[in-house]
Amino acid sequence: MHTILPHGGSLIHLLTARQHTTSLQGIKKAITVDKWTLSDIDCLAIGAFSPLTGFLGETDYHSVVEMMRLANGTVWPLPVTLAVDAVEHDDIQIGDRVLLRGEDGVDYAFLQVESRFQPDKAHEAVQVFRTDDLAHPGVKKLFDKPDLYLGGPIEVLERPRPVKFSDYYLTPLQTREIFREKGWKTVVGFQTRNPVHRAHEYIQKAALEIVDGLFLNPLMGETKADDVPAEVRMNSYLTLLENYYPAKRVLLAAFPAAMRYAGPREAVFHALVRKNYGCTHFIVGRDHAGVGDYYGTYDAQHIFAEFAPEELGIQLLFFEHSFYCTACQGMATTKTCPHEASYHLTLSGTKVREMLRNKKTPPPEFTRPEVANILIEGMQDRG
Ligand code: ADX
Repeated sequence: MHTILPHGGSLIHLLTARQHTTSLQGIKKAITVDKWTLSDIDCLAIGAFSPLTGFLGETDYHSVVEMMRLANGTVWPLPVTLAVDAVEHDDIQIGDRVLLRGEDGVDYAFLQVESRFQPDKAHEAVQVFRTDDLAHPGVKKLFDKPDLYLGGPIEVLERPRPVKFSDYYLTPLQTREIFREKGWKTVVGFQTRNPVHRAHEYIQKAALEIVDGLFLNPLMGETKADDVPAEVRMNSYLTLLENYYPAKRVLLAAFPAAMRYAGPREAVFHALVRKNYGCTHFIVGRDHAGVGDYYGTYDAQHIFAEFAPEELGIQLLFFEHSFYCTACQGMATTKTCPHEASYHLTLSGTKVREMLRNKKTPPPEFTRPEVANILIEGMQDRG
């Protein structure tokens, strides 16, 4: 039986059928939320963010920012906050009930306002991202958000409907059931915001040698503009799985969250969320959730040493930077390969994107040709 406990002990479920909610009476007003916030609402709704039951209130927020823990001591590394315009929503008071409406006009959730506060964003940035440089996409996003935070539990009326690949937006309840049906006792989670290149494939398959199943869980929420769009990536995962992975040992599902690029802190967050989906193990490789040169290559692995294993409740699998070695004639890391760097094939993301834009296929030692073809097509569609 598959028994891994969700973070905090029980799986949160915030979806309430419309007919079971109290009427619109007593609602102060509606707040329109952007896609980023909507993806957080979705993750909260399905319990991917267990034990959170809504947006962080002031006490939890400060505790998370300073100590990577909720006020009750539970490990939680990233603030999940609702930022609203301070002038437009000046009238919202503690005790109010408000509607959270999407930009598409759909009412997605109710928020019971238990907290309203003004964050010190520069401090939040330095704590969470280790920088307040506006060139960092996560910092930029933080500063672009409005200045008033509202906290409190939410009740969700419906999940956003993805235009494509909706069948892959599984809930943690569903993935746990699938793992159980498949008889997987151990499952390794893999976070990605990129196409699966040979290095990713290598570490996934190395992990798959020691566990029962691989949970390939690409992030589908907002990413920075020059990352490969989620729909193109999904097509590339499907092709790769069809051609190179044993179907019985892999489950592909969408992770609806937005990317923060918070490196080490986000690695902890990604691990805890995958525990909620039912994973027993989680892969952290080179510069996990990093961007530019803001984090050291293995900072996102070192951060886990700040917590006791039982506080995390998921086993981490750390991997070195992997590459194709022309002398070994196979994928390797410096742990397994004795040859100098000149034998190692490594391509930067920028270089790969440039090749794909010019309809040039990266070498098969870097990317499977089937994946490269889909990426080239995807790039042309974007113009
Ligand atoms: S991330 O922002 O989601 O971390 P990406 O999709 O590139 O970006 O990485 C997914 C996972 O693979 C992360 O754990 C990352 O550390 C790991 N990874 C990516 N490239 C390599 C590599 N060449 N060697 C080892 N690990 C890697």
